[in-house]
Amino acid sequence: MPKLNENYLNLKESYLFSEIAHRVNAYTAANPDKKVIRLGIGDVTLPIGSEVIAKLQEGVNALASAETFKGYGPEQGYDFLRNAIVDYYSRNNVSIEADEVFVSDGAKSDTGNITDLFDRDNVILIPDPVYPVYVDTNIMNGRNITYIDANEENDFLPMPDHSIHADIIYICSPNNPTGAAYNREQLKEWVDYALENDAIILYDSAYECFITDETLPRSIYAIEDSKKCAIEFCSLSKTAGFTGTRCGYTIVPKDLKFTSSTGVEMSLNAMWNRRQTTKFNGVSYIVQKGATAVFSAEGMAQCKENIKYYQHNARIIADALSKKNICYFGGINSPYIWFKCPNEMDSWDFFDYLLTNAQVVGTPGAGFGKNGQKFFRLTSFGNRENTIEAMERIENLF
Ligand SMILES: Cc1ncc(COP(=O)(O)O)c(C=O)c1O
Repeated sequence: MPKLNENYLNLKESYLFSEIAHRVNAYTAANPDKKVIRLGIGDVTLPIGSEVIAKLQEGVNALASAETFKGYGPEQGYDFLRNAIVDYYSRNNVSIEADEVFVSDGAKSDTGNITDLFDRDNVILIPDPVYPVYVDTNIMNGRNITYIDANEENDFLPMPDHSIHADIIYICSPNNPTGAAYNREQLKEWVDYALENDAIILYDSAYECFITDETLPRSIYAIEDSKKCAIEFCSLSKTAGFTGTRCGYTIVPKDLKFTSSTGVEMSLNAMWNRRQTTKFNGVSYIVQKGATAVFSAEGMAQCKENIKYYQHNARIIADALSKKNICYFGGINSPYIWFKCPNEMDSWDFFDYLLTNAQVVGTPGAGFGKNGQKFFRLTSFGNRENTIEAMERIENLF
C-alpha cells in the first residue's frame, strides 16, 4: 500500500466558494423571482482588449504553417516575452534581467510550487487574513505556520515583530482579501527585517496594476537591497483579463544565494530554473504572443481602460459604504473592498442577511482567516449597472 502524504489530512476543508454557491443556489431555488447580484468573485468580467486578441490570433496562425510552427518552447518563457517584462519593469524604474524572469501559467501555481525550494524545517510567517494558497501549500508540505495578525489596529498592514525570527515571509500587496497596500517605508522595514534574519520574502504583486497612488511601490524591487531577499510573483490575470487564458511570471533575482548546511552556496535562481525545467514545459506560444502584447503601448492602454472600469466600480462601492459610515479598507489601489460587518455581525451571518434582504452576494471574511471573522469582501469586477444596483440595495438596508 502506498504511504500517502498525510499532511493532506491537516488541510481545512476548502469550502468557502462551494458553501457560497450552495447557499445562493438554495436561495434562488426558493425565490426564483428575485434578482441576485454577485459581487463576491475575484474574477474579471470584461473581454480582453483587441490588441492582445490580435496577437493571440497571430499565435494561432503561426501554428498553421510548417515555417512558423512551434513545438516545445523554452520552459522559462520565450525571450520576446521575458524581454517585454524586463522593459515593463524598467518603465517603472526597476531593473531586472531577462534570465531572472520565469514565465508561467499563473501566480497560483508559482506561489504554490515555490515551496519545493525550501526545507520542511523553516519558520514561515503568513498574515491572517490571507490568500489561502500560501497556507494550504505549506500545510501540504508538513510545515508549521506562524500567523501575523492583520487587523483594524494595523490597517491590515502588519509590520515585522523583531522579537520573532522568520525564515520565509509571505507578503501580498495590494492585498487579497483586504485591499490594503504597503507604502515604500513599510516595505523597506520588511526588507530590512528579512536581511537581518537572513530570510526570504515571497512577494505577491498580482494586483500591482490597480495601484493608482504613484508613491506606492508596484514591485518589491523598488526597495533598495530587496534583490538579496525577495522573490516576486505577478500575474496577467487581473492586469489583462487572463484569468482563463493563464499567464503569469515570477522574478527570482540572481543575487538570491544562501549557504547549505554543508557550506555549499545555493542559488535560488538556479534552483527555480531546475525545478521549472524538470516539472514544467512552459506556457503555450499562443498565450505568450498575446501576453507580450499586454506590455506594448496600445495593449497596456487597453488593459488600463478595463482596470479603470473596475476602479470606478470600486469607487461606487466605497462611496456607498462611506455614506452609511461603514468602516472599509481597500478599494483605492485594489479591486477589493473589505469592510466591517455592520452591528458586529459574524461574516457568515452577514452573508445570509445580505443575500436574504438585499439579494447581494459577497465573500465572508472568515474564509480568509480568523481575523476575517467580522469582515466582508466585495469585489469591483461586476458590471456597472449591477454594482450600482447592489450598492443602492445595501444603502437602503442600513
Ligand atoms: C493574491 C493572489 N495571488 C495570486 C492569484 C492567482 O493568480 P493567477 O490567476 O495568475 O494564478 C490570485 C487570484 O485570485 C490572488 O488573489
